[in-house]
Amino acid sequence: MDDKRLLVVSNRLPIVVSEQEGNWQITPGSGGLVTALEPVIRGQGGTWVGWPGCDSSVPLDELLDHFRQEQGYQLGAVPLGDDEVERYYRGFSNETLWPLFHDLLGHCHFSGTNWTTYQEVNRKFAAATADLADEDHIVWIHDYQLALVGHHLREMGVEQTLGYFLHIPFPSLDLFRRLPWKEELMRGLLDYDLLGFQTLRDRRNFVQCATALIPGVETVRRHRHFSVLRHGERLVRVGHFPISIDFNEFDQGARSHEVDEAAWYLHENLQGRQLVLGIDRLDYTKGLPERLYAFERALEMAPELHGNITLLQVVVPSRTLVPDYQNLKELLDREVGRINARFSQSGWVPIHYIYRSLDRTQLLAHYRTSEVAFITPLRDGMNLVAKEYCACSIDNNGVLLLSEFAGAADQLGQHALLVNPYDLDRTAGAIIEAFKMPTDERRFRMSRLRNEVKRNDVHRWVGRFLNVLQMPLPQG
Ligand code: UDP
Ligand code: G6P
Repeated sequence: MDDKRLLVVSNRLPIVVSEQEGNWQITPGSGGLVTALEPVIRGQGGTWVGWPGCDSSVPLDELLDHFRQEQGYQLGAVPLGDDEVERYYRGFSNETLWPLFHDLLGHCHFSGTNWTTYQEVNRKFAAATADLADEDHIVWIHDYQLALVGHHLREMGVEQTLGYFLHIPFPSLDLFRRLPWKEELMRGLLDYDLLGFQTLRDRRNFVQCATALIPGVETVRRHRHFSVLRHGERLVRVGHFPISIDFNEFDQGARSHEVDEAAWYLHENLQGRQLVLGIDRLDYTKGLPERLYAFERALEMAPELHGNITLLQVVVPSRTLVPDYQNLKELLDREVGRINARFSQSGWVPIHYIYRSLDRTQLLAHYRTSEVAFITPLRDGMNLVAKEYCACSIDNNGVLLLSEFAGAADQLGQHALLVNPYDLDRTAGAIIEAFKMPTDERRFRMSRLRNEVKRNDVHRWVGRFLNVLQMPLPQG
């Protein structure tokens, strides 16, 4: 990065604001983006701009000042009113872009008012960014909630290098065309200097949409990891950079004393049964009902599984005010009850269902103990849980059963058991195959998966993106 400093913009700030015994406090948040970028920002005294996620009763300025002194980097808060949260976050981000970009048109709502608020809030994020950006900043904007921040920054006269990374898939032209504001969104995206996607497929989809929808846009160069598009006078780089995790942190965490103890207890409670683990936010993209039905089909097909296998499905509450998420919760409660009532025997319940998040020790202990990770989204940008599972399978004993529609399948597909989550019979077959897989084969597959995640960790992801962002452009 030489003398440049990073300014990251994301919908949520990398913090948790909480109240303890009448005192407000800010603590660092968790999640993939925070793990990836926080050390870089902290190392160079950078800046992070985002929504603090709390209301105006919180003494935010004071807390942010304190955070900067303690953590060594600056936070820029973009407070949002209730209407903005409703129309920009719940509405346009999570009821339009989220389902459309995950190929789930049936969940999409298209509202002109939501679109207007989305643009206004993106402008608000841009104004906060422009206030904090110096000449020596590299500005890196993240995800679908903020697609137009770069466009508004350009309107405000900001000339710094602007990078954008989309953490979710980019849809095909056929789907993207359904968006009533497709040209405006696409023109806005073309104002960035570098657009990063998770997979080659996402990158190709984007290039196809840009060249088909915006007259004059053409590909002028193609390299392995990025292409260069010409848009009028400007050259725009479009690349694919699969996000990853901090392998060493998970690997070492899984070996720690606390995790070792928690894993031992989990193992004892299983009484020799194999543990099949699902961990997901409650989201209709994650294929949760289909997963339950495939597990039910496996129990129908293989009576030897009865009493010898347990599916533990951890569902983390998410976007609870969006109606489609509420309906999904009701469906899952009902189906888990029905399948358990159908197959339970004295001393054995086939599905354990937890509706809350796990603390880190428990999360790592579950990854480490499970014989199978059952990760079958209908569509997913990457799926970090799949990579975390591999990093924590320190005994090389886990089997990764993965959807071919997760971005992670591009890197992990060769040694995982890949399934189409809509194909219940074959997914059930894969559960049975994982259950019966000999130790040697498990070890072979998992050691290769672990090597892959270790080699391409999150630090490499940050380095590769920033490298392409700062590369002098090849002459046309
Ligand atoms: N996770 C968590 N607490 C939990 C379960 C999961 O913090 O109880 C984390 C998990 O470690 C992973 C993230 O949530 O880093 C989920 O990321 P993923 O890419 O799998 O899916 P997303 O939720 O971003 O769609
Ligand atoms: C996905 C998105 C992120 C988002 C996260 C949690 O990973 O790519 O941008 O922050 O889900 O969703 P939430 O709506 O709670 O921020």
